[in-house]
Amino acid sequence: AMLAPAAPRLAGRHILVTAGPTHEPIDPVRYLANRSSGRQGFAIAESLARLGARVTLVAGPVALPTPPGVDRIDVETAREMAAAVVAALPADAAVMVAAVADWHVAAAPQKMKKGDALPVLTLAENPDILAGVARGADRPRLVVGFAAETERVVEHAVAKRLRKQADWIVANDVSGDVMGGAANAVHLITADGVETWDRLPKAVVADRLAERIADALSGAA
Ligand code: CTP
Ligand code: CA
Repeated sequence: AMLAPAAPRLAGRHILVTAGPTHEPIDPVRYLANRSSGRQGFAIAESLARLGARVTLVAGPVALPTPPGVDRIDVETAREMAAAVVAALPADAAVMVAAVADWHVAAAPQKMKKGDALPVLTLAENPDILAGVARGADRPRLVVGFAAETERVVEHAVAKRLRKQADWIVANDVSGDVMGGAANAVHLITADGVETWDRLPKAVVADRLAERIADALSGAA
């Protein structure tokens, strides 16, 4: 007799993923942004969906197709991303890959003109979406953050895990060509310590992380 196919490992789970940069308007035609392409976050959403999870992907402005089977919500600013994330809860796990702008700008209501006085940008801090989710009443069982660092990568990421009350932090060194590139060298930081993964294609990092998330949600890790 034929064996019934095993249920996919993440069947019945809802996983929230954030990805991409945010754009913070300066005036109606200009914005503040960063070099995130969204590729690592989109790859993670795709891997989780392939394992059978229902995936909600809250995406900043990126030029990427929606991975198969993923529910995508597009946002522009950090504050819009925060609202979309809260609206998408509850979830079994949250994987916050987005490079959220740390500040927004006191935006001018009309296009700023070159002939006017030299503009001064006044910045205000954005909400920390990851910390809010990790401390919230609806806290997912597993909260995973990313940490983009250019120096003392592991040290900063270990501190970030504690400060933000994340279960795991995936730390990457973005001093080279990671942002926008196809490969990523990461450290997985958990309560048990630090694992260093080789430089791998972003799709492979995504598959490994998705398997680890499935382990954790099934109680095997
Ligand atoms: N993050 C977030 N909301 C923010 C800023 C960051 O959810 N306003 C999340 C990111 O998605 C990532 C993690 O927090 O998962 C770490 O982001 P990072 O920019 O490395 O941390 P910060 O606390 O902003 O510290 P830094 O001063 O190094 O930028
Ligand atoms: Ca930041």
